[in-house]
Amino acid sequence: MEHITIYASTLLFLLLTTQTLAQPAAAPAPPGPTNITKILEKAGQFTTLIRLLKSTQVGDQINNQLNDSNSGLTVFAPTDNAFSSLSSGTLNSLTDQQKVALIQFHVLPSFISMSQFQTVSNPLRTQAGDVTNGQFPLNVTTAGNTVNITTGIDNTTVSNTIYSDNQLAVYQVDQVLLPLEIFRPQAPAPAPSKPKKKKAAPIAEGPSSTSKDSTSAAVTLNWSLSAAAIAFAAAVISLWWSL
Ligand SMILES: *[C@@H]1O[C@H](CO)[C@@H](O)[C@H](O)[C@H]1NC(C)=O
Ligand SMILES: *[C@@H]1O[C@H](CO)[C@@H](O)[C@H](O)[C@H]1NC(C)=O
Ligand SMILES: *[C@@H]1O[C@H](CO)[C@@H](O)[C@H](O)[C@H]1NC(C)=O
Ligand SMILES: *[C@@H]1O[C@H](CO)[C@@H](O)[C@H](O)[C@H]1NC(C)=O
Ligand SMILES: *[C@@H]1O[C@H](CO)[C@@H](O)[C@H](O)[C@H]1NC(C)=O
Repeated sequence: MEHITIYASTLLFLLLTTQTLAQPAAAPAPPGPTNITKILEKAGQFTTLIRLLKSTQVGDQINNQLNDSNSGLTVFAPTDNAFSSLSSGTLNSLTDQQKVALIQFHVLPSFISMSQFQTVSNPLRTQAGDVTNGQFPLNVTTAGNTVNITTGIDNTTVSNTIYSDNQLAVYQVDQVLLPLEIFRPQAPAPAPSKPKKKKAAPIAEGPSSTSKDSTSAAVTLNWSLSAAAIAFAAAVISLWWSL
């Protein structure tokens, strides 16, 4: 009888222990459907991202997707400092469509834990690119617990896990991820694949050479005007003398 009691309580103890261990260590899910805005509000320092999630409606997209699918999502959340360290006017220069793409570029269409980053293969698809065109990719490199992200324009490191519940992971990044598709430096125009009308080139070069020419033309004109004035004065003086 005593044996059974000990046996039973040991079992119970083991059961309780494993139950406790199975609980996620951090960030218990809030009641109700997952709400990315609420998560970011609670974390603080994400007001710009929250504003953009709202204006682009990507926030609703994220919430709906979390409710409707099981594959989960991963969000890289740039801090307010990250946004304010962009060169001024960067956000304002974007079209509405580009703003949507910029925010979707920070969302991966599946849940990826910090340790899973070590085994994902590059490039990673983001919500900004569709399945077929492979646009708007991100690359990650890892070393131990360090996860670096490369866009082709800038690099950053995951600096903190804000939220993780096996459905949604939200990672803090201290730089806005800039997609090549929007921020590719304007290189000298590559040779066009379709031959263009020959006429176009001289016109394109027009303004710079014209402005230089017109400057020197103006200088020449000034000189000729002065010369004419001097000649006129000389003529007047010599006329006056001759009288
Ligand atoms: C998500 O949370 C924000 C802020 O707490 C709130 O304004 C918004 O209505 C919530 N959205 C949903 C769908 O519950
Ligand atoms: C979540 O999805 C269920 C159906 O799958 C739907 O009834 C419910 O309204 C959705 N909730 C939100 C907040 O979108
Ligand atoms: C991540 O980035 C940091 C800072 O640029 C660098 O020192 C480190 O070597 C990088 N690690 C990996 C795994 O790419
Ligand atoms: C991303 O990784 C792929 C595959 O390794 C590579 O082809 C591509 O050049 C990388 N892009 C960037 C921006 O690092
Ligand atoms: C970003 O990291 C890649 C390697 O992952 C490196 O080749 C590249 O030079 C880095 N770019 C910047 C802007 O630091």
